[in-house]
Amino acid sequence: MTTKIIFDTDPGIDDAMALLFIEASPALDLLAITTVYGNADIETTTRNALYLKQRFGLAAPVYQGTDKPLLRPRNPSPTFVHGVNGLGDVELTGLVPALHEAKPAHQAIIDLARQHPGEVVLCAVGPLTNLALALQADPEVASLLKSVVVMGGAFGLAGKPGNVTPVAEANIWNDPEAADQVFTAPWPVVVVSLDVTTQVVMSPTYMDDLEGRAGEAGAFLNAISKPYAAFYGDRDGVVGCCVHDAAAVAYVIDPSLFGLRRGSVRVVTEGIALGQTCLKAEGELFGPSAWDDQPIQAVTVTVDEARLLRLYRETMAG
Ligand code: BDR
Ligand code: CA
Repeated sequence: MTTKIIFDTDPGIDDAMALLFIEASPALDLLAITTVYGNADIETTTRNALYLKQRFGLAAPVYQGTDKPLLRPRNPSPTFVHGVNGLGDVELTGLVPALHEAKPAHQAIIDLARQHPGEVVLCAVGPLTNLALALQADPEVASLLKSVVVMGGAFGLAGKPGNVTPVAEANIWNDPEAADQVFTAPWPVVVVSLDVTTQVVMSPTYMDDLEGRAGEAGAFLNAISKPYAAFYGDRDGVVGCCVHDAAAVAYVIDPSLFGLRRGSVRVVTEGIALGQTCLKAEGELFGPSAWDDQPIQAVTVTVDEARLLRLYRETMAG
């Protein structure tokens, strides 16, 4: 039995790693790629999704999403992480530009959820604006999806509470209001946060080995991983690439790779902690607070790094 998945993404180097992982996995059936601004502007992230679709023969349609957060101006693109072209400034050669579908991303999410009620996992690895727009346009979508698996946020459990500010992770910080709406909606959400994604690192040796095993996809991923690894090396002293977005995909394939904590999650939407994700664990007792009567979601607190890296390598090697 395969799991139907919609991939909401801002490609993005680690987004590309995650997308090709989905495509290679026999456990997943990719219904659609929905794009969002984030690692670059929406035209660039959509172009990158279309490039990956064409170059690697992906059957799933690409739906372009929104170009800005719900309420705020868009933050500048992190070109120092993902390059000006969003894919590490590796040359994107030789393909005729393809077109995205006419329907906007949030409507595609709604329509696919209605077409396959209770069957679709929505895996979101960029700012959560398309998801919030889907909820606003059709609140029933929350009861139609099987689950929502998000790469984003940080709960400070691994000494890494943020990557764009001391307390905020990029995807959530890019649209805090959307993230708060997504975490407090009545659909089951799993938040795969920096607490685990910074514990999984693909070293240069791992990427070279992947190139040897995974054909053209392996070579492409190795090439785009180099500037990404250089960024992590310079900033955090990490030797290799933190596996952010592919960790969310790994959760969809094999949740046993992760330990979870359950509770309600709120997002700070003003002040110096803008974008911080805050968990009130299930059963904890406090006075009245903004976490009261909110849905109980799950956040990842541990990960089996070796097993996740093996799953990725074996999946990519076919
Ligand atoms: C997240 O932010 C983006 O830059 C990455 O693609 C990932 O989704 C990590 O904080
Ligand atoms: Ca991403």
